[in-house]
Amino acid sequence: MDEVEDVKQYRIFSADGDVLIRDMEDSDLMAIHDWMTVEEYKPFIRVEPNAKPISSVDEIPEEDTVIRPVVVYRGETQGWISFVPDIADPTAGEVGIFMGVKENWGKGIGPKAMRMFLDILFKEEGIRVVFITTQDWNDRSKRMFDKLGFREAGRLRKMEVDPNRPGEYGDLVMMDVLREEWLDQGSGGE
Ligand SMILES: CC(C)(COP(=O)(O)OP(=O)(O)OC[C@H]1O[C@@H](n2cnc3c(N)ncnc32)[C@H](O)[C@@H]1OP(=O)(O)O)[C@@H](O)C(=O)NCCC(=O)NCCS
Repeated sequence: MDEVEDVKQYRIFSADGDVLIRDMEDSDLMAIHDWMTVEEYKPFIRVEPNAKPISSVDEIPEEDTVIRPVVVYRGETQGWISFVPDIADPTAGEVGIFMGVKENWGKGIGPKAMRMFLDILFKEEGIRVVFITTQDWNDRSKRMFDKLGFREAGRLRKMEVDPNRPGEYGDLVMMDVLREEWLDQGSGGE
């Protein structure tokens, strides 16, 4: 079976029912570029996309220690997850997630993918602690990470315009989870 052969070539690979995460491939790049240019997604992405899509993952300008798998649902790429290690201690770092197919939000795909990724980080990659930064208005994101066992660790006040309150600034919320907490609660509580 193709999939079994494919698994061998991936650094990151995990599957749970219809959802899998795997290393990013060249064929994922066009969809990712398109999502980055959607006006509605701009508050979530917070980086300027390249004017043109890149054609190879080898061209991605980043340190090679960044881990950035994609999320696939029923054979279709949905988005990506990232882990950016701390410069001083690469066993700590920040995760992020973006799911580009909005019609599929609310189906539990993001939480499933993030659970698999955190399991790999904590159990296979030797990561000790992971944090996220999200906007205070992003209730879906906060809810997802809360359910995975993250807790608020602090906030940066009035950092970004709040799209739900025109003219007002909202906080950035940082949430974290330690490896021992992740393991104690049985991989995010499931
Ligand atoms: C955030 C994101 C990854 C979540 O993935 P998803 O597959 O849509 O997740 P789901 O909505 O199925 O699950 C998240 C949880 O939040 C809940 N939720 C959804 N909208 C909510 C809202 N407005 N308020 C509170 N909870 C909400 C869901 O019901 C679900 O909880 P449940 O399991 O108790 O039902 C995805 O929507 C996304 O990529 N959003 C844009 C980018 C982003 O916000 N990234 C995170 C920044 S760190």
